[in-house]
Amino acid sequence: MSNVTVIGTQWGDEGKGKIVDWLASRADVVVRFQGGHNAGHTLVVGDQVYKLSLLPSGLVRGKVGVIGNGVVVDPQALLSEIDRVSAQGLKVTPETLRIAENVPLILPVHGAVDRAREAARGDRKIGTTGRGIGPAYEDKVARRAIRLCDLTEPDTLDWKLDELLLHHNTLLAGLGAPTFTKEELKAYLAEIAPKVLPFMAPVWEILEEERSRKSKILFEGAQAVMLDVDHGTYPYVTSSNTVASNAGVGSGMGPAAAGFVLGIAKAYTTRVGEGPFPSELHDETGRLLGERGHEFGTVTGRPRRCGWFDAALVRYAVRVGGVSGIALTKLDVLDGLKEISICVGYELDGKTITRFPAAPGAQKRVRPVFETVEGWEGSTQGARRWADLPAEAIKYVRRIEELIGAPVTLLSTSPERDDTILMKDPFDS
Ligand code: GDP
Ligand code: IMO
Ligand code: MG
Repeated sequence: MSNVTVIGTQWGDEGKGKIVDWLASRADVVVRFQGGHNAGHTLVVGDQVYKLSLLPSGLVRGKVGVIGNGVVVDPQALLSEIDRVSAQGLKVTPETLRIAENVPLILPVHGAVDRAREAARGDRKIGTTGRGIGPAYEDKVARRAIRLCDLTEPDTLDWKLDELLLHHNTLLAGLGAPTFTKEELKAYLAEIAPKVLPFMAPVWEILEEERSRKSKILFEGAQAVMLDVDHGTYPYVTSSNTVASNAGVGSGMGPAAAGFVLGIAKAYTTRVGEGPFPSELHDETGRLLGERGHEFGTVTGRPRRCGWFDAALVRYAVRVGGVSGIALTKLDVLDGLKEISICVGYELDGKTITRFPAAPGAQKRVRPVFETVEGWEGSTQGARRWADLPAEAIKYVRRIEELIGAPVTLLSTSPERDDTILMKDPFDS
């Protein structure tokens, strides 16, 4: 099976959108399998900039986009995004976008609960996007989610809304936030249903047909391994499994769905929101990386925290994420730095360790152990051939490969689609 799954290996915003768009020229279908409109993927094609949250990035290439059952869909956000990209000239129709019948919906009540809980957490807040992602996934596991197919059955919707509101209104009232009525949610869903239902499809069956036709399926991950609900820096994580193993579950395909797993890693590290970040820089270099890398959240506009590349963390992400090869992005942001540091392990309570600890207290206490390497004088920006890179930049990439135990198979040297160096085509594996 020549499928490829793209996942983030740090804390998100590694440049997954750019790489998925680039790879989509070789794919037949692009599938989102987890996350929701907490994701923000930026694609730069000539003078056009596309910012996608929920829509699979392959739509920009005119490929069929699939939103699998593992995603949580805010129908209002979906329709706004379709309007926005349509105004940019993209075509989104029920022929090009297929949404799983069994996808859980994010309703206005979920965003309200997300934000009220964050406010109540005070100093211990997670720094969520406030878009209702966590509460929507909780509802799915608690078996009270309203799914897309429920919009076709008014009776089902009626009793499901009772159960949903019993739970959430109790919580909202306890948190001192305004509650919702069944009538207002019913009216909201009645208005939205005719607009979103045309996109509904038995996605598992469509993907089975594509598989039997030997189509190339590209799975587009959102967030990243360190935000994975099981493997990330819990509780400072998102509420879905971001690892490639979820591609099959989140789309209705079997366990072999993922194929070649391409892990995306930034040549340094960033994080939005709260939580541990051992290699974070609070100095002038951190500020410089943020400025040069334009490190502001695509979804919330928050400045991203910046730090050196954490090889110990990415090595872990490679293992638990099942990564076969790495696409290293934003190497150009390091151009001109005299010295570059790489986090190779940690110090915890006087001991040196190479594995990031699991407990939150220890995750907060670890101090990074850095190795410093020489920077380069020339530019990598816009390079499209390996031979155009300065020798020290190549050395930096080779050192990273050694430390993380995975080959760099793609390199990105600017936001622009074609400023990409391919070492090994993931679809040919
Ligand atoms: P995603 O969430 O992983 O898709 O990443 P985002 O799109 O949120 O953030 C990555 C940002 O870096 C976007 O603004 C991209 O346009 C930009 N970007 C991607 N690759 C490169 C690169 O190689 N160099 C530079 N300078 N910017 C890049
Ligand atoms: P992409 O796909 C970076 C972070 C939030 C917060 C935590 C939980 O663009 O890489 P949530 O709203 O999901 O409950 O928030 O996860 N987060 C992201 N950070 N990139 C993302 O997506 C993110 N999606 C969620 O900032 O720390
Ligand atoms: Mg992003």
